[in-house]
Amino acid sequence: MNWTGWRHGGYAAGLPENVRIFDTTLRDGEQAPGFSMNPDEKLRLALELEALGVDVLEAGFPIASAGDFEGVERIARACQSVRVAALARATPGDIRRAAEALRPAARPLLHVFMATSDIHLHHKFHKTRAQVLEEVPAMVALGRSLVAEVEFSAEDATRTDPEYLVAVLDAAVAAGATTLNIPDTVGFTVPQEYAALIAHLRSRVRGADHIIFSVHCHDDLGLAVANSLAALAAGARQIECAINGIGERAGNAALEEIAVALHVRQEMFPYTTNIVLEKLHATSQLLTEITGVAVQPNKAIVGRNAFAHEAGIHQDGMLKSPLTYEIMTPRTVGRGEHEMVLGKHSGRHALQVRLAHLGYQFDTTQMQAVYERFIVLADRRKVIDDNDLHRIARDLAATPAAVS
Ligand code: KIV
Ligand code: ZN
Repeated sequence: MNWTGWRHGGYAAGLPENVRIFDTTLRDGEQAPGFSMNPDEKLRLALELEALGVDVLEAGFPIASAGDFEGVERIARACQSVRVAALARATPGDIRRAAEALRPAARPLLHVFMATSDIHLHHKFHKTRAQVLEEVPAMVALGRSLVAEVEFSAEDATRTDPEYLVAVLDAAVAAGATTLNIPDTVGFTVPQEYAALIAHLRSRVRGADHIIFSVHCHDDLGLAVANSLAALAAGARQIECAINGIGERAGNAALEEIAVALHVRQEMFPYTTNIVLEKLHATSQLLTEITGVAVQPNKAIVGRNAFAHEAGIHQDGMLKSPLTYEIMTPRTVGRGEHEMVLGKHSGRHALQVRLAHLGYQFDTTQMQAVYERFIVLADRRKVIDDNDLHRIARDLAATPAAVS
């Protein structure tokens, strides 16, 4: 494996290539503590995800429960413009159940997975490499006999011997897999290493040119998005991700971060997606509403503070030009205006603009007095709201001339 030597555009050069967005909010995301959803809730979110423009919608793990089966089946029936995927371990029972749930789908995708690292083989399955190498193609072939498209995932791929991984993926392709997913199941890899692994697999797996290479990164080291993006330059053309980055443990790569990074840094990532960016915020909010789990305030793109400015220097810059401190407008991702939060770090400029917005105008001397009152209050409170400003302004506006 060699990190140097590969470059963007590993596929045919020319027009920007499309990267498939595979959404796993309803499967890996739903699997995380506190995020489980009933079939009605899943269907509601699935319709929103379809409108958002995801290419693949992983609807659940049908063997897991009757509710999961029902969720997948109802989504397969309702979401006809998107590929609907269902997860199955590499066993006949799982595969048949997933295929059954997918029956109403217009574009079904069966997602079969099997762990390939020695750690998993030894501790989880007590299986030999040879056994797994025999079972994977048999199960992929069974899947292909039931569903037209089969994705094979080599669970814990990033801790698997790369030579053995090539052998397993070769066997999966020979048996009919149409997509190969290379999960960083435990969030262990780093961008350079992951890109080198994808490049290695693309150059070594037989028939790789006709296969979509997919990435699926967990965020245990906070690198899920960076790893996913790094893999594109090495030839990956599908990214598995979840709204708000939900998923097992620290979660999956955040869909909104992937989509917006590709949009904002087009010169670095010459790829397109079908995501309607303006719907990102509403989709994130719907997930929060359904699960009752709020996103952290400082979360990129969808967090409450993602477009809020409190420091005086930043507010002054923003008032002069939003280019100073914002790399996208809030409207790009379907949010309203950016927010100027007035607190103890805020400066006179933002305070004056807010007061003017509320109808108050002060001369320089009065403004100094208002600012001093504001800072005393702000030292005691986290945030100063408009009611506080009205109070300060009225107290200090002894002369009617000061109030417009
Ligand atoms: O993280 C993982 O390896 C998975 C697989 C089932 C794709 O979620
Ligand atoms: Zn996962």
